[in-house]
Amino acid sequence: MTKSFCFSTETAGTLPVPFQLIHDDCTTAMRTMPSETAVRVFADPPYFLSNGGTSCSGGKRVKVDKGDWDKPLTPAEIHSFNMKWISECYRLLKVTGSIFVSASFHNLFDVGQCLNEAGFITRNIITWQKTNPPPNLGCRCFKHSTEFIIWAVKHKSKHFFNYDLMKELNGGTQMTDVWTGSLTPKSEKLLGHHPTQKPLYLLERIIQAASQPGDLVLDPFCGSGTTGVATVRHGRRFIGIELGEEYVELSQKRINKELGLPDEQNIAMSDQNPME
Ligand SMILES: C[S@@+](CC[C@H](N)C(=O)[O-])C[C@H]1O[C@@H](n2cnc3c(N)ncnc32)[C@H](O)[C@@H]1O
Repeated sequence: MTKSFCFSTETAGTLPVPFQLIHDDCTTAMRTMPSETAVRVFADPPYFLSNGGTSCSGGKRVKVDKGDWDKPLTPAEIHSFNMKWISECYRLLKVTGSIFVSASFHNLFDVGQCLNEAGFITRNIITWQKTNPPPNLGCRCFKHSTEFIIWAVKHKSKHFFNYDLMKELNGGTQMTDVWTGSLTPKSEKLLGHHPTQKPLYLLERIIQAASQPGDLVLDPFCGSGTTGVATVRHGRRFIGIELGEEYVELSQKRINKELGLPDEQNIAMSDQNPME
């Protein structure tokens, strides 16, 4: 099931950013990787929300059906699923490493508990405040306008944090844990559709905050490849794992475009492995 694509500096002709996309279940793929090799993980796991209800998208009432991977499970099944991939991330991260996991209020508590159980220490729960959230159609609660990103580390003080850059990007004052911005713009969706594509500015900030050029970044739920695009843009190495073949292909196209490579150049095995 594993399918890898990988480019070396020579192939890409740009930054030294080998990357690899793996078509597989993330826990299965991570189990084959050596311990303590990654510096940063960004994970945008299933929120398990596709329950046949409705929501508003582009001004229209639509059925919530993001795919089989998002179908509801029991709380015990969700806990078991989250525990497996989070434990693998813990094993793969270096002591200086960080994990960032996106969550809505639906999975925030379970993911937080699994991070604790795996041994991680939470540094922040970042609130992503959306400037253009869709309306709440049910009118039985407040309009949902936020998601969260839990930032956790393996060691309380040894983790890398690019404090000065964050302050600089925030106009010279300490950056807070509330990040405000729009939903993913259409301009970032020109190469194909993914139902839960994250905006690039979020991933760029996370990558700049917790990794340095040349570091290895892993995304176990790679989706449309947003983390990959942000990672190669900032000169980090990247491994993305994704279950949906069409999303592996979309990720490939988006990363190729970022590196200035043609679409069809999609199976060029390099001599440079991102793990090395
Ligand atoms: C919330 S989306 C990630 C979206 C991504 N952050 C982006 O910006 O495009 C989750 C993705 O994980 C994939 N997925 C679900 N279960 C998986 C598993 N066990 N292993 C690998 N990928 C999985 C889904 O196909 C989906 O594309």
